[in-house]
This record gives sequence, structure tokens and C-alpha cells, in this order.
Amino acid sequence: MMRRFGDMALIRQLMVLLLVTAALGEHVRDLEISEGAPVGTRIGFIGDGASSDSGPPYLIVPVGSAVETDLAIDKSTGEIRTKVLLDREKRASYSLVAIPISGDNIKVLVNVLDENDNAPTFPTAVMNIEFPENTPRDVKRTLHPARDMDLDIFNTQRYNIVSGNVNNAFRLSSHRERDGVLYLDLQINGFLDRETTASYSLVIEALDSGTPPLRGEMTVNITIQDVNDNQPIFNQSRYFAVIPENATVGTSILQVFATDNDAGENGQIEYSINRRQSDRDNMFRIDSLTGQIFVNKPLDFESKEMHELVVVAKDHGLQPLETTAFVSIKVTDVNDNQPTINVIFLSDDATPKISESAQPGEFVARISVHDPDSKAEYSNINVTLTGGDGRFGLTTRDNIIYLVIVSLPLDREMQPNYTLNVIATDTGTPPLHASRTINLKVTDINDNAPEFSQDVYYANVMEVSDPGTSVIQIFATDKDEGNNSAITYFLFDTPDTHSSWFHVDARSGLITTKAHVDCETDPVPQLTIVATDNGFPPLSSSATVFVTIHDVNDNEPIFDQSFYNVSVAENEVEGRCILKV
Ligand SMILES: *[C@@H]1O[C@H](CO)[C@@H](O)[C@H](O)[C@H]1NC(C)=O
Ligand SMILES: *[C@@H]1O[C@H](CO)[C@@H](O)[C@H](O)[C@H]1NC(C)=O
Ligand SMILES: *[C@@H]1O[C@H](CO)[C@@H](O)[C@H](O)[C@H]1NC(C)=O
Ligand SMILES: *[C@@H]1O[C@H](CO)[C@@H](O)[C@H](O)[C@H]1NC(C)=O
Ligand SMILES: *[C@@H]1O[C@H](CO)[C@@H](O)[C@H](O)[C@H]1NC(C)=O
Ligand SMILES: *[C@@H]1O[C@H](CO)[C@@H](O)[C@H](O)[C@H]1NC(C)=O
Ligand SMILES: *[C@@H]1O[C@H](CO)[C@@H](O)[C@H](O)[C@H]1NC(C)=O
Repeated sequence: MMRRFGDMALIRQLMVLLLVTAALGEHVRDLEISEGAPVGTRIGFIGDGASSDSGPPYLIVPVGSAVETDLAIDKSTGEIRTKVLLDREKRASYSLVAIPISGDNIKVLVNVLDENDNAPTFPTAVMNIEFPENTPRDVKRTLHPARDMDLDIFNTQRYNIVSGNVNNAFRLSSHRERDGVLYLDLQINGFLDRETTASYSLVIEALDSGTPPLRGEMTVNITIQDVNDNQPIFNQSRYFAVIPENATVGTSILQVFATDNDAGENGQIEYSINRRQSDRDNMFRIDSLTGQIFVNKPLDFESKEMHELVVVAKDHGLQPLETTAFVSIKVTDVNDNQPTINVIFLSDDATPKISESAQPGEFVARISVHDPDSKAEYSNINVTLTGGDGRFGLTTRDNIIYLVIVSLPLDREMQPNYTLNVIATDTGTPPLHASRTINLKVTDINDNAPEFSQDVYYANVMEVSDPGTSVIQIFATDKDEGNNSAITYFLFDTPDTHSSWFHVDARSGLITTKAHVDCETDPVPQLTIVATDNGFPPLSSSATVFVTIHDVNDNEPIFDQSFYNVSVAENEVEGRCILKV
């Protein structure tokens, strides 16, 4: 019986299929159920549903397989319930054909109604994008849109920036395309400056319009790319250094320092010296990386005291930017504590000398004090003069140039030289002293006549002496020097005193006989000797020489007369010739 019924059912089913496919006359029953309704929720009835009484069973022909798994159909009552949680996003509708025992077939359509059971969802949680700084306003970049499987208002409706939008740098714009997706763009809303804000981390939410709305979230990390929009900046506009002139080549002087707010190459700085504007002689060099400045050539205070360098800091951008700074390097004199006193002697040959004939007030020397290192300190200098036995003084009109003058008469024969000391003291703290010793020579004038050692000389000579016999050497001195003291002697011609018998050597003062002397003619000839110096004009003096002539006889005397009567004065000089026998 069962088997028959089974056969019968099969046959009926086949027939119904034929009927369903063939028959046009049939009822359509639309049912609706919200997705997510609890399992077992009644969807409706196949029939009119007026009663749930059991009737003859329907023959159910599902269209599609899901009907049997998802729906529970009471074949007797025609009641349809959910068998599982329905999900519109998986299956939006079910259809089946119900064949009653009698009557038209009923085509049942179960529509699953949308519920807001899906949140907008971004495809990635994080998105990384880059903008160059200074990108113009309104420039946009497309972001991944959020997708929402739900329909209409339950689909994505709007986007918001939740956080991270420093200074409102960005805004969002969106538009819906035909595919239903709400596309999203990020737009620049303000001024992007990497040096102010180098990166942003925007949290963006996508919302639908459910009650309450569901949301999805995405973090957009924005890196602002550097543009070379900052020039290097020196930490000082002027640098100053002092270096002694004997600093060796390679000595480090100072370091300049510049910063550049840009990143990478745009912020990398290279230092150089602008040689077109400064230091053409390469006296200095700079380390291009560190900005350290070094001595490059031997310095010389005397040729240049102050060096002004123009130093350039340039970045490595494609279009490099540069800045300049000034470096003043003062070179100091290493002889700082040894200022010099310059003395110019006002003598004919510029040697330290003064004539003894110089009158008080006459100039000896001109003094200037030199210290190239501290002009300012020396501008108010006090120069003093010591030594010289008070015979010299200083005068100045401007306190810069001093003149050494004679203040008391000089006499070379008393003091042939003087030691003078010039001391210069500045007003610096501590004061610097300079001193100079002058050995001043007093030069001679012919102010002394020769002087004989005696005013009167006495000499003896034998009457028999041959001509040329020495009589006496007389001697005169002269306190002057040089030609002023070079003495020449000569014999003053006095015929009455028989000077012609004698001769004096002009150089040595040796008096000799020139002829035979005759005691009877003149027993005591008297000579006048003159000594003359070689000065201009010459000076001279004279001395008197008394020569006593002696008679000498060695043979036995034979008198030619037996009596000699002679008179001799009682005060007659001893040895004098009184009688020739
Ligand atoms: C994005 O930025 C945030 C905040 O700065 C950071 O914590 C995160 O690591 C970044 N993510 C990526 C992928 O760079
Ligand atoms: C430079 O001169 C000063 C003073 O004369 C001396 O003390 C110093 O050693 C010198 N320096 C060099 C590098 O010669
Ligand atoms: C500038 O930089 C140099 C080198 O680093 C440093 O010696 C100097 O003190 C700095 N100047 C200022 C005003 O900071
Ligand atoms: C210069 O020095 C001398 C000696 O030390 C002193 O008497 C005199 O007052 C000084 N003059 C000035 C202007 O300082
Ligand atoms: C200076 O004169 C003295 C004699 O008064 C002399 O001894 C000395 O050698 C002289 N010095 C110079 C440098 O002429
Ligand atoms: C000294 O006198 C001689 C002769 O008159 C002359 O040749 C010489 O140049 C003079 N010497 C000096 C230093 O004047
Ligand atoms: C010597 O001469 C003087 C005068 O000439 C005369 O007085 C005197 O008597 C003379 N004596 C003799 C001894 O002749």
C-alpha cells in the first residue's frame, strides 16, 4: 500500500511538474520576513492562512536547494517558518511551488527584508599616503572606500575624520557611483608644511544611517614629503675671533654653525668661503662639513690686522638655497708686551750725537712710540726721559711726537757721552712700558788751544856740537780730539835771538841744531816755539826755550896771554860761557 502510494506520489509529482511547467494559471503568494528573525519565526502561510487547520497536504516543490535547509514548511497547514537565521546578504529570497490536492498551484515567494546587520567596512585598517609639502589646496587623493552589504540607508552614508586632523589640514569628499559604493577622497584643506607637521595620522570613520548607525574605521597615515623651502640659517649673523699672528698653519680659529629645517639632502649643509668677496689670498680655509675655520697660510699682523670672511652655508637641494654670514678675524701682534720706541736722531748722519757747541733748545732726537697692537692704549702715552745729567729735556706739542732737546750747555772735554733713558708708559691696565737707552756722543769743536807742558824750557848744547844735534823735545797737548788736537810745531823766527841756528820737528817737537852755535855770538839763544792744532779755525799757543851753549876743551891749556881780566855778574847762570881762552 505504502509502496503503491509511493508510486502514486511519484507519478503525481511528475504530473505536477508537467502541470507547473505547462500551466499558466497559478496563484502567487508573496511573503516577507526580516533577516535575522529568530529561528522558528512564522513567515506566513501558503494559503490564505485564515486557519491553521490541517487540510490535505501540499506537495512542495522547492525552487533552489536552500528552501529545504532554511525554511520549515508545514505541508498540512501551509505554515512557513524560519528554520535558521536568515541573512539577506546571503540569500535575499526563496521561492517554491506548492501543489494542493485540488486547485491551482501556488507559487510562494519569500523575500528576506534588509536589516542593518552590516557595518561599513574599510578593506584595510591602515592606509599610507604621501603628499609633498606646499601641495596646493583642494588637491585630492582617492582613499579606499568602505563597503557595506546592507542596502540603502543601511549602506555607507557618510565619512568623518574622527581625529588627527591637525589644524584642519584635510577634509573629505565622497560621491556614490552606480555600483552603489560611496567613494571617498581626501582633499587638502590648508597649508602643508613639513617643518611644522611632518606627518598626520587621520582616523576616518564610515557611517550608515541605521538606528543606531554602524561604523567602520580606518587609519590614514600621511607623510608630508620635504620640499627645499627652507634656507640654511646661521646661529649668528656675525662671528668674531682673535688669533695671534704666529698661529701655525692648520690652527683652528672658530666654528660657524647653520641649520636647515628641511629634511634629507634639502637640509644637508655645506660650508664654504665666498672667495669672490673675501679672502682671495686663501689665508683661511673652512671645513665644508663642520664649518670649522682654520689658518691656511702664515698670518702677518703688519700686513693685515683684520680679515673679513664671507662664509656661505648652502643646502644640497636640487635647487639649493644658501645664506651668508660674516666672520671677522683679528690678528694680534705677538710682541704685544714689547712696544717699540722709535728714535730718529737729528744729526747730519742720523747717528746719536750732538755737538758740544749745541745751544740750549737745540734738537737731539725725535721720539715716537709704536705699538701696532694697541694703538688705543698708546694714544694717551706718557713719555719720560732720565739720565743725561739733567742736560737734556723733552718737549712735545701733541703728546705723540716728542723731541729731545739740549737744556744745558755741553762740553765734550768734560763729558764726551751721555746715557739717556726714554720710558713710555701707557694708560692701559696693566700699563705697558717701553724703554730705550740712547748712548749720545758729544762731538768735538775746536774750543781748546794746544797747551805746552811748560811755559819756559831750558836746554843746554855744546858749542862743538855738529848741526843736527838734539837740543830738547818740547811737548804740547790739546784737549780736543781729532784734527782739533793734531798739533804742529814751528819755530818763530827771531833773528835777534839766533833762532836760525835751530830747527823744530813739526810733528815730534824735537829741537835740533841746524848750524854751529857760537857761544860768543850768543851764549843763550832764546827760542819761541809755536804749537798749532789742525782745527778750523786753528788755535795755537807758544813757549820759550832758553838754550845755554857750553864750551868744552879737553887739551892742556896754553894761554895766549898770561892775564885775563873778565867781569862776571854775580847772578850769572851756572855753566855759562864767560871767557874763551
Ligand atoms: C600610522 O601612524 C600611527 C600613529 O603615528 C602609528 O602608530 C602607526 O604605526 C602608523 N602605521 C603605519 C603602518 O605606518
Ligand atoms: C707665539 O708667540 C708667543 C709670544 O711670543 C709665544 O708664547 C707662543 O708660543 C708663540 N706660538 C707659536 C705657535 O709659535
Ligand atoms: C653658534 O655655533 C657655534 C658653533 O657650534 C658655537 O660655538 C656658538 O656658541 C653658537 N652661537 C650661538 C649664539 O649659539
Ligand atoms: C708721566 O710720568 C711722570 C713720571 O712718572 C709723572 O710725574 C707725570 O705726572 C706723568 N704725566 C702724565 C700726564 O701722566
Ligand atoms: C763714554 O765716555 C766715558 C768717559 O767719560 C768712556 O769711558 C766711555 O767709553 C764712553 N762710552 C762710549 C760708548 O763712548
Ligand atoms: C784732518 O786734516 C787733514 C789735513 O788738513 C785732512 O786731510 C783730514 O781730512 C782731516 N781729518 C778730518 C777728520 O777732518
Ligand atoms: C882789570 O880791569 C878793570 C876794569 O876793566 C880794572 O879796574 C882793574 O884794575 C884791572 N885789574 C888789573 C889787575 O889790571
